Amino acid sequence: MSDQTELRKKAAQTRQATALAHPNIAFIKYWGNQDHALRLPINPSLSMNLGALFTQTTVIFDDSLSHDSLTINQQDYTLDDPAYQRVRHHVDIVREWTNISTHARIESSSNFPVGSGIASSAAAFAALSVASSAAAGLTLTEAQLSQLARRGSGSASRSVPTGYCEWTLGNDVDSVAVSIAPPNFWDLQDVVVVVSQEHKAVGSTGGHRLADTSSLQSARVAGADDRLTRCREALLARDLVSMGAIIEEDAVIMHGVMMSSQPPLYYWNAGTMRIIQATQQWRAEGLPVYFTIDAGPNVHLICESAHVQAVVSAAKQLPEVQDVLVSGPGGPARLV
Ligand code: DP6
Repeated sequence: MSDQTELRKKAAQTRQATALAHPNIAFIKYWGNQDHALRLPINPSLSMNLGALFTQTTVIFDDSLSHDSLTINQQDYTLDDPAYQRVRHHVDIVREWTNISTHARIESSSNFPVGSGIASSAAAFAALSVASSAAAGLTLTEAQLSQLARRGSGSASRSVPTGYCEWTLGNDVDSVAVSIAPPNFWDLQDVVVVVSQEHKAVGSTGGHRLADTSSLQSARVAGADDRLTRCREALLARDLVSMGAIIEEDAVIMHGVMMSSQPPLYYWNAGTMRIIQATQQWRAEGLPVYFTIDAGPNVHLICESAHVQAVVSAAKQLPEVQDVLVSGPGGPARLV
């Protein structure tokens, strides 16, 4: 019996489970939904799990509880907190799927800082999906886990399978992520350059709802399939020069949509622009490194492991840089 099967059996017996999931960085971005409630994206996306970073979540179903309880990084959340409501809503889906009404104690912690420019919701909802479904006694396929994770946070669908993952369009059951290459396929590194730790005013969920208000969104969506195909091909050929150009283009197009939304979303600050220009300069000097940027000011520098030290030391010399985190590719969401 595999380790995961054994852990799932134990979870069903004890009605409690602990799962670990990695965040991911998108090379082709998800921005905008066809269906906001189900989080069915407007375009497919492609990402890499970040193996050095993780969220670990324990879910305990307990008949003596009168409501769910949530603790994140040692902080208790009240019932009226939006984060609590989002988590409770997610566990409600699992309760619906199993036909149980028992409340749960949910405890979660991460080894990476909030505000570091890493989408914590991806790792959080992937880990919560694996832990809560196992604790409820469900045996789900990887596709079903990815579907469940997507309902909590779109990008979480991509943190369920291993390594490099592609999330496709479809209806509720089909819009899931699959692995296109394992972590050891290519030792790409994400050097996360932190230029601000401020909490962003508009999060991704609000941003997805604004995407359609930009007249650039239709052009972004029209080109997404082509960019994804070219990015997948470059990735599978381990061709960073081709892939780098595509990921930069895709990130900048997404930020063009954000900046031209109504109201506009300017996630970049002066430090962001400084890192973009420095990246172009490092490249001109022979260092193969490319940037991508999520819904925030911090910049993800993508390079091969042979160049990671050079990228980190170059980044640390810039006065705008407050912190640097480094991660290579990571495995799937799993019970531990
Ligand atoms: C810019 O998955 O965080 O990071 O579904 O509302 O939780 P919700 O949004 P989320 O959006 C991610 C946006 C992005 C691009 C990406 O990761 O593909």
